[in-house]
Amino acid sequence: MGFLQGKRALIVGLANNHSIAWGIARAMRREGAELAFTYQSEKLAARVTALAAELDSDIALRCDVGSDADIAQVFHHLDNYWNHIDILIHSVAFAPASQLEGNYIDDVTREGFRIAHDISSYSFVALAKAAHPMLRAGSNLLAISYLGAVRAVPHYNVMGLAKASLEANVRYMAAALGPQQIRVNAISAGPIKTAAAKGIRDFNRMLDYGARNAPLRRNVTLDEVGNAAAFLCSDLASGITGDVLYVDAGYHIQGMAVLDGK
Ligand SMILES: NC(=O)c1ccc[n+]([C@@H]2O[C@H](COP(=O)([O-])OP(=O)(O)OC[C@H]3O[C@@H](n4cnc5c(N)ncnc54)[C@H](O)[C@@H]3O)[C@@H](O)[C@H]2O)c1
Repeated sequence: MGFLQGKRALIVGLANNHSIAWGIARAMRREGAELAFTYQSEKLAARVTALAAELDSDIALRCDVGSDADIAQVFHHLDNYWNHIDILIHSVAFAPASQLEGNYIDDVTREGFRIAHDISSYSFVALAKAAHPMLRAGSNLLAISYLGAVRAVPHYNVMGLAKASLEANVRYMAAALGPQQIRVNAISAGPIKTAAAKGIRDFNRMLDYGARNAPLRRNVTLDEVGNAAAFLCSDLASGITGDVLYVDAGYHIQGMAVLDGK
C-alpha cells in the first residue's frame, strides 16, 4: 500500500508532461493518492484532461489563479466530488517575459512586479483561503520555489522577489494553519527544462552550470521533485511545517564554483 493511500490531492499548475506538477502528480498517484487538477485556460483543457485520465482522474477544472471568481468556482465544483482535501499543490508562477532578461534595475516595472507577486505568491494564500473549509487536521499545502528567492540569479530578477514572498507566505500560512494541524511547506527545486523555465533568458546555461557545480554533478529530475513532494505531503513528514526543502542536487550549499572541473 502506498504512503498516500486514501489521500485526496488537488494539483494546481499542470500544463504538460514536462511540468513539475506532472512529476508530483505521478509520484502521488503511485503512492495511492486520488487526484484532481486545474488548468489555467481553455487552451490547456484537452491536454490536462488527457493527462489527468492517465492518472485515473476525471477531475480537471479551469482556474486562472489571478481571478478570485475562478478560484471560488474550483472549490464549488470540487465540493461535488470530494468532501475534503488532504493535499493542495501550488506549482504556478508567471512574470512577463520582459522581466526575465537583462539587468534587474533597468527592466523591472511596477506592473511586472505586481503581476509576478500576484500570480506566483498571492495565489498560494488565495487558494488556501478558498480551500480552507475543505481542509482538515492532517491536510498539507505545498508550493514550488527556487533558489532565486534567497540569492541573486542572473535574469531571474523580479521572479526572485516573488519567490521570496512565496517562501514568506509558506511561513505565515504555516503559523496560521498549524493550530489546526494543517501543514504548509515548499520545495526549492533545481532547474528543470519546463515551459515556464524556457521563458528565463540563458536557462540552458543555468542547467549546464548547475550540472557542473552541484555536489551531485547533475541536475534533478521531475521524479525526484515529485518524490520529495509526496513525502512532504504524507504523514511521514508529520513534524515538518513552514519549511523549504531543497531538491537541487545540493547546489544551494556550494560556496563557489567547482575548481578545475573536479
Ligand atoms: N522549471 C524550473 O526550473 C523550476 C525550478 C524551481 C521552481 N520552479 C517552479 O515550479 C513551478 C511550476 O513551473 P514549471 O517549471 O513546472 O513550469 P510549467 O510551465 O510547466 O508550469 C507553470 C504553470 O503555471 C501555470 N500558470 C501560470 N500563470 C497562471 C495563472 N494566471 N493561473 C493559473 N495557472 C497559471 C501554467 O499554466 C503552468 O501550468 C513554478 O512555481 C516555477 O517557478 C520551476
